[in-house]
Amino acid sequence: MTNYGVEMLWIVILASLGLSALAVLFSISRRRDSHAPAVARAAGEDVAAEAARKVMREFEKNGQSADAALVTWSPETLRKILADDLPDAQVIVVSNREPYIHNVKDNGVELVVPASGLVSALEPITRACGGTWIAYGGGSADRLTVDDNDRVPVPPDKPSYTLRRVWLSEEEYQGYYLGFANEGLWPLCHIAFTRPIFRASDWEAYEAVNRKFADTVVAEARNERPIVLVQDYHFALLPRMIRERLPEAIVIAFWHIPWPNSEVFSICPWRERILEGLLGSSIIGFHTQFHANNFTESVDRFLESRIERADAAISYGGQTTLVHAYPISIEWPAELLAKLPTVEECRTRLRDRFGLKADVKLCIGVERLDYTKGILDRFQALDELFTRHPEWIGRLVFLQIAAPSRGTLPAYQQLHDECMRYADELNQRYGSSDGYKPVIMVAEHHSQEQVYEIYRAADICMVTSLHDGMNLVAKEFVAARNDEQGVLLLSTFAGASRELLEALIVNPYDAAMMSDALLQALTMSPDEQRERMRPMREMVRDNNVYRWAGSMLLDAARLRKRSDLDRATGVTERPANTDSNIVSLFDRMRRVAS
Ligand code: F6P
Repeated sequence: MTNYGVEMLWIVILASLGLSALAVLFSISRRRDSHAPAVARAAGEDVAAEAARKVMREFEKNGQSADAALVTWSPETLRKILADDLPDAQVIVVSNREPYIHNVKDNGVELVVPASGLVSALEPITRACGGTWIAYGGGSADRLTVDDNDRVPVPPDKPSYTLRRVWLSEEEYQGYYLGFANEGLWPLCHIAFTRPIFRASDWEAYEAVNRKFADTVVAEARNERPIVLVQDYHFALLPRMIRERLPEAIVIAFWHIPWPNSEVFSICPWRERILEGLLGSSIIGFHTQFHANNFTESVDRFLESRIERADAAISYGGQTTLVHAYPISIEWPAELLAKLPTVEECRTRLRDRFGLKADVKLCIGVERLDYTKGILDRFQALDELFTRHPEWIGRLVFLQIAAPSRGTLPAYQQLHDECMRYADELNQRYGSSDGYKPVIMVAEHHSQEQVYEIYRAADICMVTSLHDGMNLVAKEFVAARNDEQGVLLLSTFAGASRELLEALIVNPYDAAMMSDALLQALTMSPDEQRERMRPMREMVRDNNVYRWAGSMLLDAARLRKRSDLDRATGVTERPANTDSNIVSLFDRMRRVAS
């Protein structure tokens, strides 16, 4: 190596040592945070936000960052990013499912937190940022609990944001939610071999309901420049509707389910309208790069647009949209774990609840009763295991928690009946007169605390969806296991398998492979369980939901600064659809710089 090369090497080594020392100092200061006086705490938060920004800049440059894990992403980091990078921006979340449902029960009102990955991820974010969450009010007591403006402060015990409910007629709900969203887009986007159904009347309802939500966003916006977080496939048309009425808003659309390849997507009769609607966003997020690429390919195939692959940007209609992968996550459940019984107690309680022997191995599945989740395929794997290894009959029980979902749709009713039938069949074939039943199906809603107790009581958790954007159950299971025990069987077709690499990764369509993996899990030593569980727990703790939201907000801040610069320097976008009229992100940056 030349002298110059050696010098450069030393500079790089010294610079990274300096950065690491800073990062360690920073993480120590974060740990001391709770005991620090207010001023020191504020300084610590500054450092946290700056470190977060630095990580994201590194990430943008290199596609990854070695220091990312050293930043503790928390509600404070998020608040600081909002205050520093997006001052005075009002946060508005829009989703179909509301975070808190009020139902009439026993002459009173019962509060329910729905079984929804979207809700468990977005709720802590909205709590941290404040603002307004607009959602469909579907609970039987929802109208009784709002004020004159259809608003209710939540969370009920310690309000920190406003839930604004939107009312839908029976026809709207039928056409927009059950019809177009769940009989059309849901099967279109998931490879589960359920045929999508597209009806013109459903599409009309979908469009009308998207417009109703756009009206509500405009009504709730305090000024022209809110940040609107549009959630999921219920609102593909909403971003453009908002853009038309609030051109200066930042609209971030997050698609929580997979995006199909362009050939599958072409089935949808309103494919161009859906793409155009979504391209009203400033940013469109997916859980995986694969789904982001599928989206870009669909745009390439069906719209006259300019695609800047190196920038992950699409220019359409004179506007640029970033298309990125932001893997969603959970809030690290430190407080919840502190409240929950020990793993030993959870095991005893669950075994008592279902009358299981103390030494029986417990395998669990936890999800909504949905045909994308691969529940029947799990039963088949169990069947295969008992056939090939009958020594496990009597020593293994599979508990399926299946929250009722979309129960009026024929595909869901059929799944419910098939699950019940197959569970009965397995219990008859492998059960015994002493009360042993290998399959327990509980088709009931469970609270977050109850679900975490079940995670802690299990020996094995099967998250074996046929197809899934992310599947947060996998992340919740590892987060719940602070004893570093338990084995996760994870579908290669769930987004989580891109991150939880130490799980036993399986193909849910291959019953023989799944039964082998079950056997491996049943016979895995506690040491190996720990070896696998520890890095997965670190991954989920470091890449928590605040990091997910923080990276989108930092990207949004970049976009806002750039468009403010454009405006200040007179750079305007022109009507699009001809190559010469479209200005790429890079072109614009270069023009502003010069
Ligand atoms: O994450 C996919 C998703 O459809 C969410 O959009 C939704 O909140 C959740 O699953 C539950 O479905 P639903 O709201 O239809 O009960």
